[in-house]
Amino acid sequence: MCIALVATASAASAETYHWLQYAPDGLEARAVTDQAACPAAEVDGVGKAMTIRAAPGTQYPVTMCALPIAADARSATIAGVPLALPRAELKRIAVIGDTGCRLKGQAVQACNDPQQWPFRLIADVVAQQKPDLVIHVGDYHYRETPCPAGEAGCAGSPYGDNWPVWRADFFAPADTLLKVSPWVFVRGNHEDCERGGQGWSRALEPYAFDVAKGCNGIGKPFIVRLRGLSLAVIDVATAREERVDEAQAQLYREQYRSLAEATAGPTWILQHRPIWSPGGTFSGKLIGDSKTLAVAASGAIPDSVTLILSGHHHLFQVLNYQNLPVQIVSGNSGDILNPGTVTDPAGWTVNGVTVQSGMHMPGSFGFSMFEKQNDGWQVTNYTRLGIPRASCLVKDRTAACAPK
Ligand SMILES: [Fe+2]
Repeated sequence: MCIALVATASAASAETYHWLQYAPDGLEARAVTDQAACPAAEVDGVGKAMTIRAAPGTQYPVTMCALPIAADARSATIAGVPLALPRAELKRIAVIGDTGCRLKGQAVQACNDPQQWPFRLIADVVAQQKPDLVIHVGDYHYRETPCPAGEAGCAGSPYGDNWPVWRADFFAPADTLLKVSPWVFVRGNHEDCERGGQGWSRALEPYAFDVAKGCNGIGKPFIVRLRGLSLAVIDVATAREERVDEAQAQLYREQYRSLAEATAGPTWILQHRPIWSPGGTFSGKLIGDSKTLAVAASGAIPDSVTLILSGHHHLFQVLNYQNLPVQIVSGNSGDILNPGTVTDPAGWTVNGVTVQSGMHMPGSFGFSMFEKQNDGWQVTNYTRLGIPRASCLVKDRTAACAPK
């Protein structure tokens, strides 16, 4: 009786999250556990040892583990729980972004209220749709300062760059979805080394954890090679927005140019910050485009890139330009939404670039789903309850849109 009780207590105290993500060298299983040792792993019925990617450290009393997974693996488990492997056909890609709960000074979100912070609901609704791939376009970590005294909506919330925040903002609410599909993680500005960068670097960063620094610097782009589609993942977490940073512009220009050789066929750029996209109209001005990335991208993005997929603005937006990839922003999955109303962006001029057509849709929490068609991808933005709001057919460098 006593032995049984001890065993039960021990099992209950173990906390493990695991997932499969795309990394520069292919697929990688990852796990985070509050145990000293990595969980047991099995691939095609054969036991495998996960390696420690990041040992427990200050503010992170958890072990981060990794295991490369061969592209032709048929089954895999971590701690006896199945890992979601890529399906034979890539038909449906879910996109979420800007998912955490805002606690920063005067900006206080009711993290304990699923109506005010609906990320768990959204992750579960997406999981029910069983997408073939999940893309998170960045900004996971939002709890930077204490919940003010007397605020019941966020009472008890952790804050800072530490494991309790990463667990509360991302891993706990995303747990079901982490086990449903492989993931591509994009680094947001909330994951720079001034904010949630330690947790990013330990858990989700595609490259090896920089143990000496405790937080990784800007990562090089990497390419996710899918059947008929390449995803170029670019770390623009620290790209200066309101003015041109020449050194950064040079770096990103080289990265954009490198895609011509690094990719073959249709390519989407995945980067947290959009380029010629405002978050809305503030005091009569279109605000929120990236001055540095605009200089970097000008003449440098290869013709094979048909789409730039971003978050950063907490809304759904589709912008068609001339002779540029379509810009889609899907950053409405949890954090406080951008203000404003649904607007036709046709005719907007953003840092010298004119929007030909598209959609600007603030005001609703949700997620997006890309569905493969014969001649392109149908992208639909859904509410947090899974009700379609708007849909566009993305084909080559155009998106033909209609409200639902
Ligand atoms: Fe952001």
